[in-house]
Amino acid sequence: MKKIEETNQEQIIQKIAKCNEGKNLQYSILTMGCQLNENDSEKLSGMIEKMHYTKTEDLKKANLIVFNTCCVRENAEDRLFGKLGEVKKYKQEKGTIIAIGGCMMQEKHIVEKLKESYPFFDIVFGTHTLHKFPEDLYKLLQNRKQIEDILDIDGEVIEGLPIKRNDSVKASVTIMNGCNNFCSYCIVPYVRGRERSRKPKDIIEEIRQLAKQGYKEIMLLGQNVNSYLRVEKEKNIPFEEYQGIHSFATLLRAVNQIEQIQRIRFISPHPKDFTDDVIEAIRDCDKVCKLVHLPLQSGNSKVLKQMNRKYTKEQFLALVEKMKKEIPNLTLSTDIIVGFPGETPEEFEDTLDVVRKVNFEQVYMFIYSRRVGTPADKMENQIPEEEKHKRFDMLKQLVEMQIAKQNKEYVGTTQKVLIEGKSKTNEDLYTGRTDSNKVVVLEAEDSLIGQVVPVKIVSEHMWYLKGERK
Ligand code: 5AD
Ligand code: SF4
Repeated sequence: MKKIEETNQEQIIQKIAKCNEGKNLQYSILTMGCQLNENDSEKLSGMIEKMHYTKTEDLKKANLIVFNTCCVRENAEDRLFGKLGEVKKYKQEKGTIIAIGGCMMQEKHIVEKLKESYPFFDIVFGTHTLHKFPEDLYKLLQNRKQIEDILDIDGEVIEGLPIKRNDSVKASVTIMNGCNNFCSYCIVPYVRGRERSRKPKDIIEEIRQLAKQGYKEIMLLGQNVNSYLRVEKEKNIPFEEYQGIHSFATLLRAVNQIEQIQRIRFISPHPKDFTDDVIEAIRDCDKVCKLVHLPLQSGNSKVLKQMNRKYTKEQFLALVEKMKKEIPNLTLSTDIIVGFPGETPEEFEDTLDVVRKVNFEQVYMFIYSRRVGTPADKMENQIPEEEKHKRFDMLKQLVEMQIAKQNKEYVGTTQKVLIEGKSKTNEDLYTGRTDSNKVVVLEAEDSLIGQVVPVKIVSEHMWYLKGERK
């Protein structure tokens, strides 16, 4: 693993910064994906701000517009192409620099489409070349020639990139990159490459630094967090153990020791890798939130096999049972895909059955979206859009009914709430979250931001709870 200082990016950042000084240049960044993508955008923002651009939400004012794209589902593509149509006129009017990066740029057919239909872009860069953004920008500024900087092979993990975080209470820390699971519907392994874990020491140092800066909640990120360091062990790739960290469970235990940190969350684990040591670590570590995200995807064993998920309906339910037994007050959230190729109405019923049985705290629901290059895209028995939507609505109805019922159970209870800041919709109120990640709206004061306080829940609404400080 290389440090940013070992590359020439720092010098290039300084060169551009000197050139930009006093010019009052602005940039906008549009993040279109998951939390890993958000974390990448924070790193891009860190580099760009060091080059003396200040952030603006107003695309018209920006001198540099960066798109950080996602390709997990089709609607992300529609959003990008729509936005590119909008920014074309700014480019024509004032020469705005247009840079497009992220997962979607790792797909050859997308880059081809950009060249054909949106040839006015200045830079495209992929997931493995993000840290080289300053160099790409520098070359563009020198030569004014379109730049394509995409690597097909897994890039190195570069440590110590400057970072401009979006929040002052919660911080995301990427612990591993890539995915080796190849679920048959998923494009991620093709665009993010193979699993590579960051060094334990680098992660702990980053979190210690965050704790010093006043951050209270840490979100550990990875496409498959609970296989942290697994590949390294399996392939005998040497890694330096640090504070006894040699697995995801030991990492959780070490982060739990960092003093000022109050809460630890992580996404996404894979049910097949949910080993006993991870369950025990969640149980034992007081700061690890007892809301665990456990992606189900489908409740039917045949569909799960076609999805290459490596567990059955029964194994998933048994895992949930075991976790609930071991971890007091455990709540679960999940991801579900409806309308996977070949899914019959009866097989979809199994998904509803698991949802009824587990009573998830939160369900992220997705309509199956065909992704070029994945095995599921080549399956013949694709489900008609109308039928997929019908199933989605059925699932949504069930989930909303369950959530409304759970919300009622919160009323009258006292919850530990981490106060995150002022409400965006009401100046006089603040928002925070329970351990189970429910949004709570309450009267508070600035000095409580970043603190965990006991709050009595007084009423419930579909997407938030109202509370009063005890
Ligand atoms: N279609 C629909 N949903 C998908 N996801 C991943 N790939 C697809 C796809 N092709 C969902 C999965 C995953 C979440 C991040 O996105 O549920 O857990
Ligand atoms: Fe995609 Fe499956 Fe990897 Fe998650 S575990 S990123 S769904 S291939």
